[in-house]
Amino acid sequence: MKKTTTLRGTVVLAAIAAFTLFHWMTGAEAQSPDQQQPQAQTSAAPQEKTVDQTRKNIQALKGLPDSQLLPVMNMFAASLGVRCDFCHVRTGNEWAYDKDDKKAKQTARKMIEMTINLNKASFEGKPEVSCFTCHVGHEHPPTVAPLPRALPPREEARRPAEAWPTPQQIIDKYVAAVGGKEAAAKLKTRVIKGSYVNVQGNTLPMEMWFEAPSKLLITINGQQGVITQALNGDAGWVKMGERQREMDRGEIARLRSLAVGLGALQLREPYPRLTFGGKEKIGDREAFILRTITPDRRRVRLFFDTETGLLLRRYTLTDTPVGADPEQLDFEDYRDVDGIKVPFSIRVSYLMLQPSATYKLAEVKHNVAIEESKFK
Ligand code: HEC
Ligand code: HEC
Repeated sequence: MKKTTTLRGTVVLAAIAAFTLFHWMTGAEAQSPDQQQPQAQTSAAPQEKTVDQTRKNIQALKGLPDSQLLPVMNMFAASLGVRCDFCHVRTGNEWAYDKDDKKAKQTARKMIEMTINLNKASFEGKPEVSCFTCHVGHEHPPTVAPLPRALPPREEARRPAEAWPTPQQIIDKYVAAVGGKEAAAKLKTRVIKGSYVNVQGNTLPMEMWFEAPSKLLITINGQQGVITQALNGDAGWVKMGERQREMDRGEIARLRSLAVGLGALQLREPYPRLTFGGKEKIGDREAFILRTITPDRRRVRLFFDTETGLLLRRYTLTDTPVGADPEQLDFEDYRDVDGIKVPFSIRVSYLMLQPSATYKLAEVKHNVAIEESKFK
């Protein structure tokens, strides 16, 4: 534990120091360090309100940016394997989230304080311990190792003799597999038709307009009408029927992440500092893992197919004081469009169910002119 902590600390510092050398993902390079979203910090930047300013009854999570409240609540529910009403009072469809009537909510508050204190005392304030560390999906954490005990393999056997590729070799293979640097550089826009499959399994017609690197408009034909979501660099808005509103930082970050997935290459030169993170199975595929840290201090793991070289998964952790909030994008069904390999299925998963979905592409057109007004 100690070792990884120190290592991670070093990587974080190196990442910050190397900030100007970074070219990482959509729009991030356009931000100066003091404009970065402090997602990973306890105190929010002045422009984003914290939960104690926006909510009624906050005692333990003071300082948490408001856009992180629901991700954190979903992390609590997922960590304990419960729904919101395990801790919150509900009468019919009326929720009174601010009420403290349930004992579980009061216990949870003590647990938040304990978790923050554990991380402060033993992990230099990094959120190594989270609710899930102990609860692992149960209301009552398991306290004793299970019987019968399986004998673990010998230490030597755990270290494979295999020679690993270097990060540069993995990246080179990825770029070639996608179609090469030149072909990727030519990609300016993508107009997509397809469908959106939500977590309930409903399939809805969807269209997307993407302009590299960070403009994206998505329309989804829902049962209650058309939902439009738009990202324009650092800003984003959502429209349902006649109602339109600005997106919060969490929503913008989620849409921006999808936009990265729609670019020809998900990593651009000069490449961020990448370290090799081993080999893992994803479904029936084997993947090499590369690790990096974004300028806004999210920890990222990229999984590349050991055979095809293509990116299978991008896994990102955003730190909160009570543990990391995960995001996972799975790329499948790669097909050739104009000499570029395009994933025709992008599955986006969060602990929050509502933004989790699968985008299924049916038709992809490249370099169609898109009017600027579309994203405004
Ligand atoms: C394990 C217990 C637990 C679960 C499960 C849980 N919450 Fe909470 N929730 C809390 C606690 C504790 C607070 C108060 C935090 C504090 O005092 O800083 C809170 C606060 C809130 C608030 C702010 C209320 C206010 O105005 O003060 C909202 C909104 C909320 N939760 C929504 C949810 C939603 C939605 C879910 C389900 C996805 C959920 N919570 C699941 C424990 C829980
Ligand atoms: C260091 C381990 C540990 C961590 C971290 C931890 N818990 Fe717990 N939690 C426990 C133990 C142990 C119990 C009590 C044992 C039992 O109820 O069987 C418990 C009990 C609870 C209960 C009461 C359950 C009940 O049915 O009465 C709630 C609610 C809870 N934890 C929420 C949380 C939340 C939310 C977090 C993260 C902010 C968290 N815990 C982090 C170990 C932990």
